Amino acid sequence: MSDLRTLLGIEHPIVLGPFGGLSSTALTAAVSNAGGLGSLGLYGYDGDRIRATGAELRALTDRPYAVNVWLPMGDEVEPNPQHTVFAQALQPFYEAVGVDVPARPERYAPTLDEQLEAVWEIEPAVLSVVFGVPSDDLIEEAHRRGILIVGTATTVAEAVALDAAGVDAVVASGAEAAGHRVAFLHSAEESLVGTFALVPQMVDAVGVPVIAAGGVADRRGVAAAFALGAAGVQVGTAFLATAESAANEAHRDAIRSTAADETVLTRAMSGRLARGARNRVVRAIEASGTIAPFPMQNWLTGRFRTAAGEQNLGALQSLWMGQAAPLVRHGTAAEVFAELMAGLPATP
Ligand SMILES: Cc1cc2nc3c(=O)[nH]c(=O)nc-3n(C[C@H](O)[C@H](O)[C@H](O)COP(=O)(O)O)c2cc1C
Repeated sequence: MSDLRTLLGIEHPIVLGPFGGLSSTALTAAVSNAGGLGSLGLYGYDGDRIRATGAELRALTDRPYAVNVWLPMGDEVEPNPQHTVFAQALQPFYEAVGVDVPARPERYAPTLDEQLEAVWEIEPAVLSVVFGVPSDDLIEEAHRRGILIVGTATTVAEAVALDAAGVDAVVASGAEAAGHRVAFLHSAEESLVGTFALVPQMVDAVGVPVIAAGGVADRRGVAAAFALGAAGVQVGTAFLATAESAANEAHRDAIRSTAADETVLTRAMSGRLARGARNRVVRAIEASGTIAPFPMQNWLTGRFRTAAGEQNLGALQSLWMGQAAPLVRHGTAAEVFAELMAGLPATP
């Protein structure tokens, strides 16, 4: 088994999962400073914000950290006249948080090229990617700069494709996990293998280290992942509930009170399938049957989600969380990290 610690230059093979839109530099640095690999989600960040975030992280930690980008899948819609129709459908939610129905923007998100230019400048130890196989150019450029590339797979076939492309490690994203299903070979609905089945099959199929993600929230999950052959774990929900996280009180309360079977996979909030609590806004958008394609829906709901977040209105936020939510301890990042470490094998 390849040693993830040597590869990544970390003390303990525990990775904080990136949170697109909800990462905090404090949490990323806390996990890196504890000896794991803190990650920070860059979805939606433009070049300047990436540079500023890199500077913040450098001030908070001198340990390795990862940043995460979403690769374009080719099916992303540009702003178009349909925007107005879909925006009107969400009017009650804008009204509820006191913001105007948003006009059509010039773009929904910064381009990957703009993001990468800034990523090369801030020089993270690791660049992790979702929603596809990075190009040869991207991998070569990263390696030339001494930056490792971690891919993310929801199936064995995706892991094999990432391995063949030359990534340095693969995250096995089981269906239990919080947030988006990052499938890229088949539809997200057809790519729902659970972590327990996925990890050993991926370990058998690829040469690079496999990092188990989805459902790991305490020492038992860590021990299980290593027993299945994982070289590390990537943990999201358990860290999202810690003191250093950017999640607001409503989101923390929801993680405290949502049962595993009350988390759902839904396209309601972004146009792509993602796991979170089925709150009022998810139920209402699903019932309306009107969901714009990605990233239009993500941008449109983002306009009221941000305001709802500031007002601590859980009913109108995206309450992303995984099926392990009831296992989560609500302490500091160091406390959660210590709990996870207790599950590591003596000689991983
Ligand atoms: C709010 C939120 C946002 C997320 N955004 C991303 C993202 O942008 N990129 C990514 O690779 N994973 C993302 N994830 C997934 C996590 O990094 C992690 O892999 C996952 O939460 C692991 O499953 P768990 O929650 O059961 O521990 C997100 C998870 C959450 C909770």
